[in-house]
Amino acid sequence: MRTIDWVDGAIELIDQTELPTQVSVRRITELDELISDIQRLAVRGAPALGVAGALGVALIAHTDGDRASRLADAARLREARPTAVNLSWGVDRVLTALDDGPDAVLAEALRVRDEDIAACVSMGLSGADLVRDLVPDRPRVRVATICNTGALCAVERGTALGVVQTLLEQDSLEEVLPVETRPLLQGARLTAWELKQMKAPFRLMVDSAAPYLLSRGLVDVVLVGADRIAANGDTANKVGTFSLALAARQAGIPFVVVAPESTIDIGTLSGANIEIEDRGPGEVIQVAGTPTTPAGTDAINPAFDVTPAEFITAIVTERRVVRLGNDGVVTGSGFLTA
Ligand code: MRU
Repeated sequence: MRTIDWVDGAIELIDQTELPTQVSVRRITELDELISDIQRLAVRGAPALGVAGALGVALIAHTDGDRASRLADAARLREARPTAVNLSWGVDRVLTALDDGPDAVLAEALRVRDEDIAACVSMGLSGADLVRDLVPDRPRVRVATICNTGALCAVERGTALGVVQTLLEQDSLEEVLPVETRPLLQGARLTAWELKQMKAPFRLMVDSAAPYLLSRGLVDVVLVGADRIAANGDTANKVGTFSLALAARQAGIPFVVVAPESTIDIGTLSGANIEIEDRGPGEVIQVAGTPTTPAGTDAINPAFDVTPAEFITAIVTERRVVRLGNDGVVTGSGFLTA
């Protein structure tokens, strides 16, 4: 089953807010529904947001309106969430076909979908090869990860968790240690659900246990996704990723980012220029709707953080593996443009 697709003239997507309790599919015929589903994380994860942006423009092109109103709708869609560059990338790419009519727009959107499927297969294979290369002394590796980077973050197969799936298929996986990923628990709700589906051995850990467990030698490699990679390699991803990178450096283990080329934003020179979504206090002061703090408690809730390139061992895309130097130090900027 695909996370998001175009089915009989509408967008269908798995409502990820219902998981793991229930797999429910939403059929979307109105742009406002799609924007709302993106904002409440019914569809989420950078590659899936790219496909949502692409299919959203197909929806706009199949709705009544003139060119100006369609462009205004597309602008609203690309701003639904700010950090994952894939959303605006998917919108902008499909908009190039707008003047050729709705059929051409849909064809371009479906190409974005199909390229995502192929890219994830490719990242899985080269990521698994890289992991074996980085961890030569263990026939089966132990992987730590954060958030959800599996099929639910893309169309059919994920990025970092796609590498895990490939390692499993190649009998090269010992165990996965995902973090819960507070406050919305994408690791506990979504990654654990996907790992169960693929019958991968795993043990969930609370976010704050990760640095300790890495330092105790329980992990061979950290694999994460990305929402935006700046031209110098600085990488925005789910908040908590930077802590994992610091812990990996301290423990002397590799830290690998797995993301499609569409996540690389060469127009953003460094991580300092990446807009980080602030999702407000509501998600922090309660768990599943139950308040966990005294009334009136304020909270700060950045949805993402930025890991400086110097903490990243390699970036895997569908086209290349960019190694960031044996000492983890990047020299020069713009290396991702080559
Ligand atoms: O807020 P989310 O759930 O959309 O955040 C998702 C992540 O941070 C993922 O790690 C990232 O999009 C990469 S998915 C391959």
